Amino acid sequence: YTEEDEVRTKYYTFYKELHQLYKSKLNQNQIAIEYLKKRGYDAREISLYEFGFSPVDSKFPQQVAQRLGLSKDELEKFGFSNSDPFAGRLIIPIADDFGRVIAFGGRLIGEGVPKYLNSQDTLVFKKSSTLFLFSFAKEYIKQVDYVIICEGYFDALAFHRAGIKNAVATLGTALTKSHIYKLKKLTPNIVLAFDSDSAGIKAALRSLEMLIPEGFNVAIAKFEQAKDADETYSKLGVEGLVKVLDNSIGAEQFVVESLAKQYDLSNPSGFNTFIKILRNWERLFSSNPKSLEKFYEHASTTAGVMKEELKNLLASQQLQN
Ligand code: GTP
Ligand code: MN
Ligand code: MN
Ligand code: MN
Ligand code: MN
Repeated sequence: YTEEDEVRTKYYTFYKELHQLYKSKLNQNQIAIEYLKKRGYDAREISLYEFGFSPVDSKFPQQVAQRLGLSKDELEKFGFSNSDPFAGRLIIPIADDFGRVIAFGGRLIGEGVPKYLNSQDTLVFKKSSTLFLFSFAKEYIKQVDYVIICEGYFDALAFHRAGIKNAVATLGTALTKSHIYKLKKLTPNIVLAFDSDSAGIKAALRSLEMLIPEGFNVAIAKFEQAKDADETYSKLGVEGLVKVLDNSIGAEQFVVESLAKQYDLSNPSGFNTFIKILRNWERLFSSNPKSLEKFYEHASTTAGVMKEELKNLLASQQLQN
């Protein structure tokens, strides 16, 4: 039993008690409850996902620290100083892979900036290796042999509410090596369910650059009637999310179509840039012959040239870095 174990034990206790306090305040705050109800959450769901609320005058972190006999220094190491950064916010608990709360997300109730506030990294919480709802999702991911990766808390939650429980979300960061390592143990199949806006498309392309060399089969969900999974579930229910998944497209098609939208292919310089960038994707897809073939199909159709001509065009390009 090392000193570090002892600190970690204290950490879990601290977060557990702080979370309890936040939870107990939620039911006393009509505005926060109304907010969740407006987002479609019923009482069962509110308690299942263990939302909380931090009052505007919250001194909860300090109070819990005092109760547990934590020093100022320890409290700081646990992610809090003199005030409660989450004051006035809806609290979303962030658990580790075993379901222990190790951080919080705080959403403004209503509009404003910053919309979300996440815990800073601590000795226990590493944003870049944590996946929201992973502890809920891991068994389902193994069962159905694929994982759905979302951008936002409420998007992963929407899938779970719909009974599609193999969904997780990154915490406002790009997908990292440690996320990938964690998922690789469970499944080689991924559906990216990122927002349909330009930030979401960019994030999906960046994720693919990491996932394809690791040998994952990746599909990209297509949101057409709403901008993200949460909105889809609110507007169209389970059926809406099922349809989004059914309409997923392969990574090869997604890459070609997204790039084709970024460049004007009718203009020679736009066309050249498009080919240059495709050259790098050709290299990425080349680790899997079937995937490479699909890539050539989509690229040649989109570029409006025969497959052999496309290959020649690509071969004449230098690899970019
Ligand atoms: P809702 O409006 O509540 O549905 O949020 P959203 O999840 O749709 O938000 P958005 O698509 O803007 O962002 C996706 C994810 O990025 C969020 O779930 C957060 O994890 C993160 N994010 C968004 N806005 C902020 C912000 O202002 N600060 C930080 N730190 N993270 C943010
Ligand atoms: Mn945003
Ligand atoms: Mn977005
Ligand atoms: Mn969103
Ligand atoms: Mn949203």
